[in-house]
Amino acid sequence: MAVRAMHHLPDDSVLRRKAKRVPKIDSSIQRIIDGMIETMKQSSGVGLAAPQVGVSLRVVVLQMPDDEESTAIINPEIVKRAGEQEVTEGCLSVPGYYGEIKRSESVTVKGLDRQGKAIRIKAIGLMAQALEHELDHLNGILYIDHIESQEKLHKIEPETGAGKVRRE
Ligand code: NI
Repeated sequence: MAVRAMHHLPDDSVLRRKAKRVPKIDSSIQRIIDGMIETMKQSSGVGLAAPQVGVSLRVVVLQMPDDEESTAIINPEIVKRAGEQEVTEGCLSVPGYYGEIKRSESVTVKGLDRQGKAIRIKAIGLMAQALEHELDHLNGILYIDHIESQEKLHKIEPETGAGKVRRE
């Protein structure tokens, strides 16, 4: 399956749109998921949402650093959030920057897996952060929208790589 072209700022029309629910899980959705997983791996990301590859549908993929397999969630919804964590975050659609924001410490997400089976995921820490980040993408929200002040947004230094963070 082919790696798909990444959409990023300032070309943000698809990134800022609210993505549509997937009406039916068919072979075209399977192809989109396969392409998203390839694209996430090639970009060394821990997560990716369909709008980032130009597809305005409610599909996300995730792969935490210790995971052997990637996870796809179709029509995901956050049903519970708890606590707060300060995180450093980057986004494949906002190249060259990273920032410090607040995320929930734990989240519970329900949705469908790639076979259409109902799933429920309870996550803490990095996985909770990634789920909130990817689900934001489905609503046209980027992490930079959560930045409280300009001092919390930083440029990655291209020469030293200082400020390299996990990107989603
Ligand atoms: Ni992102």
